[in-house]
Amino acid sequence: GKDGYRHYMEKELHEHPVAIGQTLKRITDPASKRITLPPMPFDLAQVPRVTITACGSAYYAGMVGRYWLESLARIPVEIDVASEMRYREPPQPDKGMALLISQSGETADTLGVLRSLKKAGQSIVSVLNVEHSTIGRESDLVLGMDAGPEISVASTKAFTAQLSVLAALAIEFARARGTMDQAHEERLTASLLDLPSRAAEVFTRTKDIQAMAGVVAQARDVLYLGRGICTPIAFEGALKLKEISYIHAEAYAAGELKHGPISLIDQTVPVVAIAPSTILFDKTLSNLQEAKARGGRILVFTDTAGAKRLEGVAEQIVIMPDVDAFVVPILYAIPVQMLAYEVALLKGTDVDQPRNLAKSVTVE
Ligand code: F6R
Repeated sequence: GKDGYRHYMEKELHEHPVAIGQTLKRITDPASKRITLPPMPFDLAQVPRVTITACGSAYYAGMVGRYWLESLARIPVEIDVASEMRYREPPQPDKGMALLISQSGETADTLGVLRSLKKAGQSIVSVLNVEHSTIGRESDLVLGMDAGPEISVASTKAFTAQLSVLAALAIEFARARGTMDQAHEERLTASLLDLPSRAAEVFTRTKDIQAMAGVVAQARDVLYLGRGICTPIAFEGALKLKEISYIHAEAYAAGELKHGPISLIDQTVPVVAIAPSTILFDKTLSNLQEAKARGGRILVFTDTAGAKRLEGVAEQIVIMPDVDAFVVPILYAIPVQMLAYEVALLKGTDVDQPRNLAKSVTVE
C-alpha cells in the first residue's frame, strides 16, 4: 500500500534515502571505505570503451555515469538512447563493454541493443532494479540496485539507486586503471555513504519546493538548465515535469542558452537551474543573469554559498545540504523530482498513472 502517502510517487520519493542506502550496502564496505562490487567476468583495465544505453530517466542516469567514468577512470564512453543505438550500428571495439541501465529490465529497445552488442562481441553489464528480468537473464553480469519495487509510473528512487551503482562502478574502474589512489577512493566512498542522511534532509526543504511549484504551475513552458554533471539532472527535471504535470519543459546545457532558447524567455517562461556552488557556478550564474535581464523568473536549486551569490537574481531558491561535488547529481535529483510532484498536485493530474504512459515499455 501507500503507507499513508497520497500517491505511490510521494511514497517512493520518500524512499530515496533507503533506496540509496540499500543499494550501497551490497557494494561498499563502510569500515574500509572501499567499493566492493562483485568480480567482473573480464579485466576492467583492458576495456577500451564503455557503451552506455538506456531510455528515459535511465538514460539520464547513464549521462551522469559517463561524466564519472570519463573524469575518474579516464575511459572513453559512448552513450545514446536505446532506440537510436539500436539502428546506428556503431563500430564496436575489441573487448568493449556494453552497459545497459533499466529499472524494469524489460524495456524493448534496451533489450534490442543488448542483443546486438552481444553479437558484436561486447561484454554485457546491466544495472537493474528487477534483476530477474529478461535483460538480467541475458547479461554477463547484473549489478543490482536494490531500490525496492517502484509502482508509480514516473521513476523516482530507481534513478538515485542507478546513480549510486554507476558511481561505485566508476570508482571500481578508476582503481583497476590506476587513475585513483586509495585516499581518493576512501573520500569518494565516504561521500556516497553519507548520502542517505543528506537525502533525508532534503525533505525539510519541502515548503521551499512547494513555493517554487507555485511559480512553475502557472507556466505553460519551463526551461531547465544545468552544467556539467548537473545537465542530466536538468533533463530529468524537465522529463518528470512533462510526464506528470503535462507542462511543457525543455532542458539545456546552460551554455547553449545563448545559442537559441534564450529567445523564448520572458516573464511567462520560468527558468529552473540546477546550480550547486561546486560545479561551474560562475558560468551558470552569468547565464541566469542573462535570463533575468530578459524578464525570466529564476528558480534555483543550490547550496548556502550559491544562494548568497544569487541574491537579486533568483526569485525562489531551494538551499540544499552541502555535499562533495562527486555526489551532487544524486542529491539534486531528489528535489527536482519533488518539484514535479508538487506541481502535479497543484494541477490535479493523475500522478501515479499519467495519461498515455506505461510503467514498462515492452514494445518498440
Ligand atoms: C521517467 C520514466 C521512464 C523510464 C524509461 C526506462 O520517469 O519512468 O522514462 O525511465 O521508460 O524504463 P526502464 O528503466 O524500466 O528501462
